[in-house]
Amino acid sequence: MSLPTHIPVLLKETVGALSIQPGGRYIDCTVGGGGHAAAIMERSSPGGQLLGIDADPEAVKAARDGLAAYGSSVLIVNDNFANLEAICMKHDFLPVNGILFDLGLSSLQLASSGRGFSFQQDAPLDMRFDPGQKLTAADIVNDYSESELARIIREYGEESYSHRIARRIIAGRPIKTTLGLARVVEGAIGPRKGRIHPATRTFQALRIAVNNELGNLETAIKQAVNLLGYDGRLVVVSYHSLEDRIVKRLWQRESKDCICPLDVPVCRCQHTARLRIINRKVITPSVAEVEANPRARSARLRAAERIITEDEWRESTERLSFLGDINPGGWRKPIILREVLGVSSAPFQ
Ligand SMILES: C[S@@+](CC[C@H](N)C(=O)[O-])C[C@H]1O[C@@H](n2cnc3c(N)ncnc32)[C@H](O)[C@@H]1O
Repeated sequence: MSLPTHIPVLLKETVGALSIQPGGRYIDCTVGGGGHAAAIMERSSPGGQLLGIDADPEAVKAARDGLAAYGSSVLIVNDNFANLEAICMKHDFLPVNGILFDLGLSSLQLASSGRGFSFQQDAPLDMRFDPGQKLTAADIVNDYSESELARIIREYGEESYSHRIARRIIAGRPIKTTLGLARVVEGAIGPRKGRIHPATRTFQALRIAVNNELGNLETAIKQAVNLLGYDGRLVVVSYHSLEDRIVKRLWQRESKDCICPLDVPVCRCQHTARLRIINRKVITPSVAEVEANPRARSARLRAAERIITEDEWRESTERLSFLGDINPGGWRKPIILREVLGVSSAPFQ
């Protein structure tokens, strides 16, 4: 089997947090070079199955090649994880024992010439994970208003010089390449002082905006909770505080029995917890891992477990009377989804 050149981050911790069982079904929503996916397949053997998703067709090809040895136990789909529920229903891949998101971009994408993710090499300002998508970084840089550019750079790059950079970008248009943009940013806020290049935050901001990374993450995480069987694990490895905040906020809400505002004396929301948070404190890589793989530097891992609510339990036992082949332990929610949306079962191959 050919080994992926991307070194998977927090591999041991991810596999541990997913609590992988032989014969289990897992989804890798960001399959990339297939590093985490291969480890999941090793641990879930015999009988494990994996659905891998990636928006980038080059990553899909790399994952298909790297995971070819697992044959029809692995299905790799070229799609956006924001369509997670629809993908799972199309392939009848639910409920699942574990779902992984290893966010951001891979070393393969960063190193790939012509994708425009990095200012280490000159390339057109592209930054799309999915080359079929219309919006590119060049569109944002050359067409957006100064205030909109400043907002993107401030919000998604957490850059305090966002207005100064936006003004320089407007003055420097048209800006067609990564090095051209890096020079404009450097001209706006001065040369590198420490380890971090001055254009790092602006590049992060543009990549997040081009790929709607935060919006897609929020959509997908909500869907992932629905797809997990009881005791199923949800694991997210994020690389900056914006992603981590989204995960933390959604999980805090999903792990509470009441989400009424604090000034409401008696609960009116009827909300019941569907997740149990496994680690309150994020798991970060060891010094040795960061030394071996600097890309791991900012990684933070969060894990949660699907729990059954009282209503779900009641409904699942009612349904057991006519759904004879259902595991008495659960799996109600996905069946409901399938019924509601009228999606037919397709063989998993
Ligand atoms: C950090 S890499 C994953 C690496 C992988 N875990 C491995 O071990 O090789 C992140 C991957 O997620 C993909 N990705 C990012 N956002 C996505 C989205 N919304 N939908 C599908 N794939 C996405 C990227 O194309 C990239 O290949």
